[in-house]
Amino acid sequence: MNAWLEVDISAIRRNVAAVRSLVGSRVQVMAIVKADGYGHGAVRAARAALTGGASSLGVANAAEGAELRAAGIDAPILVLGCGLPEQMPEVVARGLMQTLATEGVARALSQAATAARCEAGVHIKVDTGMGRLGVRPHEALAFARLVSNLPGLRIEGVFSHLATADHDDVTYAREQAARFEEVLTNFERAGVRTPLRHLANSAATIRFPEMRLDMVRTGLLTYGLNPLSSPLTEIELVTALTWKSRIACIKEVDAGERLGYAGLHVTERPTRIACVPVGYADGYPRALSNAGWVLVGGQRCAVVGAICMDQMLVDVGGVAAQPGDEVVLIGEQMGRRITANDLADAQGTVVHEVVARLGHRPPRIYLNEEPSPEATQ
Ligand SMILES: Cc1ncc(COP(=O)(O)O)c(C=O)c1O
Repeated sequence: MNAWLEVDISAIRRNVAAVRSLVGSRVQVMAIVKADGYGHGAVRAARAALTGGASSLGVANAAEGAELRAAGIDAPILVLGCGLPEQMPEVVARGLMQTLATEGVARALSQAATAARCEAGVHIKVDTGMGRLGVRPHEALAFARLVSNLPGLRIEGVFSHLATADHDDVTYAREQAARFEEVLTNFERAGVRTPLRHLANSAATIRFPEMRLDMVRTGLLTYGLNPLSSPLTEIELVTALTWKSRIACIKEVDAGERLGYAGLHVTERPTRIACVPVGYADGYPRALSNAGWVLVGGQRCAVVGAICMDQMLVDVGGVAAQPGDEVVLIGEQMGRRITANDLADAQGTVVHEVVARLGHRPPRIYLNEEPSPEATQ
């Protein structure tokens, strides 16, 4: 294997259990497993999250929900995206819950549900300041009334999403929460029942206990990834993902040699350059050309030159490395660590992007899975 991802299933279980005990028994946990479980593998992540105490799962679209159903997962699944009218028969056929924010999709789902002689659970989405999906706060009550009058639909929740939950300045997040509270009060006064009210993503779950409401929707925390820029003291997480490879070959180079596409790196001294068979097609960002590091022999070694589609070059001049030696791209080696957050910071992006873009090429190796019931018989 050129490179592989080790996913510690027990870490996902423990992280969800830790979120559960942080939020208390009156708050449900929806584990977000969209984008192939943040790159960890949606089906395994979903199963582990449910074992850890998640009540439901969140996916981006009906196809992601269908994948979980096909694997035999029968827990409640919410499609967080608004979907398209033509996708509603699949939502119904798979028994998914659908986010609603437009009349067209609401009517299409109602038709699909009545045609199938069943009821579809829905969550109404309110845009309190993200400017993305959701009905405007002042339109929310009228929309909820429309939805409750459509046959085949059952309102199970109402939610909104925060744009700045991880920012130092908490003003905007609090404004969004206040707008959401106002919507909820209007619903209550009008007698519109919405059993689950939810707002908090991982960052808000940690920082704003008052925003946990009836349920939190945690993605990053599920996988042991830190949603904030400072270390977390409120919860103990276990990183689920380790990304490894092996050195394919090593070359001695002189000072002044140009390396890789566009000769992006020029060696300053004689050194040894290792070729590692991981590139941007595996999900290692090209933006980390001349800017990333990997662990070899327990040392941080610089990525030099441009990241190629299938390979990268690493300066191993300071380490007694040999072809075949283990390379850690994310994870721990001999007490040293590189986190997905480190890679995100190094390229000025969010940690979500680092894991969500992990490619399909590196196989996932699942560690510490619970034996299946068949295996124990
Ligand atoms: C609607 C919604 N809720 C919750 C989440 C989870 O966010 P996080 O991974 O920051 O917890 C996401 C992720 O993007 C989302 O889109």
